[in-house]
Amino acid sequence: MAALGITIALLVWVAILLLISFWKQIHSSWNLPPGPFPLPIFGNFFQVDLKDIPKSFAKLAERYGPVFTLHMGGRPVVVLHGYKAVKEVLLNHKNDFSGRGEIPVFEGHKDKGVIFNNGPTWRDVRRFSLTTLRDYGMGKQGNEARIQREAYFLVEELRKTQGQPFDPTFLIGCAPFNVIADILFNRRFDYNDKQCLRLMSLFNENFYLLSTPWLQLYNNSGGFLHFLPGSHKRIIKNVSEIKQYTLERAKEHLQSLDLNCSRDLTDCLLMEMQKEKHSTEPVYTMENISVTLADLFFAGTETTSTTLRYGLLILMKYPEIEEKLHEEINRVIGPSRIPAVKDRLEMPYMDAVVHEIQRFISLVPSNLPHEATRDTMFQGYRIPKGTVVIPTLDSVLYDNQEFPEPEKFKPDHFLNENGKFKYSDYFKAFSAGKRVCVGEGLARMELFLLLSAILQHFNLKSLVEPKDIDLSPIAIGFGRTPPHYKLCVVSRS
Ligand code: HEM
Repeated sequence: MAALGITIALLVWVAILLLISFWKQIHSSWNLPPGPFPLPIFGNFFQVDLKDIPKSFAKLAERYGPVFTLHMGGRPVVVLHGYKAVKEVLLNHKNDFSGRGEIPVFEGHKDKGVIFNNGPTWRDVRRFSLTTLRDYGMGKQGNEARIQREAYFLVEELRKTQGQPFDPTFLIGCAPFNVIADILFNRRFDYNDKQCLRLMSLFNENFYLLSTPWLQLYNNSGGFLHFLPGSHKRIIKNVSEIKQYTLERAKEHLQSLDLNCSRDLTDCLLMEMQKEKHSTEPVYTMENISVTLADLFFAGTETTSTTLRYGLLILMKYPEIEEKLHEEINRVIGPSRIPAVKDRLEMPYMDAVVHEIQRFISLVPSNLPHEATRDTMFQGYRIPKGTVVIPTLDSVLYDNQEFPEPEKFKPDHFLNENGKFKYSDYFKAFSAGKRVCVGEGLARMELFLLLSAILQHFNLKSLVEPKDIDLSPIAIGFGRTPPHYKLCVVSRS
């Protein structure tokens, strides 16, 4: 009898919990855009494919329109699909949706640094990072010279492969790594330096793991899965190792800091810390400084490195495009002068190829999640403060009116009928508005100069027939990760 009573009590308890969760879901989405009906507890998890969430978003947009609501981990998420809706959220409502949606695996960086900061210090740290990056980017020893110097080392390193097959991941990645390391820490590393390889492997592993189905589940479950075993633990450990590295660099810099002369971005952040010495609510604490450095180090390396690696694979699949690039480089730069930023004006084909690589790979397909900073009326719906908003970028980069046959790699997407570079406002690989990528200028310069330098000196040689090269990513989530591959580079001189 007692057992029956306990069972009934438990069942009633579970039924009440289900009802409460159901009520909360209905209530919280009262005035939100339409979307599929959420199940209690699970919400709309069964309507998304964790292996390819961007594709699920596209399918749901066909049914519910360009602005729709999903319930993930008990919270509503508003998804924007297509140029008009994405642009409206990012540019017309730039302050209303400039918060950063929570990413549970980066809980340790929450409200610190730039990328994952959703707290009161974000505005200051972002503005300061932008200004300092700009200052270090300008002048004689600015980004152009910095990248050109690194292009020289990259070419030398590629030459050492002597036409033998190699995995480009870390060899190519070392160039953007050294460019950002120079800005942040006034330091460059040899291509076989153990510390450099270790840090790059942490960045690379995190970027891959963040795009796997488990992490989609983890990050969309509001952190409930934290205590289970899984690759989220690995990311958290890697993040902490990266931060430990940046903290050590910051401490080292502090010991030799000269307030009259900054050596790099770390010094500039430390100088701000000194200025706030007597403040009761300092922004630039050692913790905030090390997270800011870790953010810039990771974002500044992995994005550009992955784009270059994906780009080389694409060019091997389309040797006729590579051939056209060689012709343009021969004509404009010649065989020995180091590529310069001014060459871009005379190299519309290379410019178009770089844009098309970024469009085609759509490196951050669903963007990073944003968050409503206040209650906002948007297209007739009331989006409450704190709602996660996802302005998807692949929906803009794959717009089939602007880019006919978007699934195909076609540099013509960025060329007019006279072969001149054609600007497109749909090119939103770096997002837009208040959260737009802080490293956009640097990344664009690196992609152009490094790719030009590689192709100026080498022909790319695939180990398989071009037609057999599969460009499909191996993971799609936070980012789109290219397949592993090896290639040979054959000297052109
Ligand atoms: C191909 C290269 C790159 C791509 C495609 C890219 C893309 C993006 C995207 C899509 C975002 C999110 C924007 C949003 O939330 O709306 C972002 C943010 C960010 N990126 Fe990049 N990025 C690249 C290179 C870089 C580089 C080189 C740096 C560092 C120098 C960098 C630093 C950042 C930072 C700090 C943020 C956070 C901005 C904020 O939350 O306020 N990125 N990037």
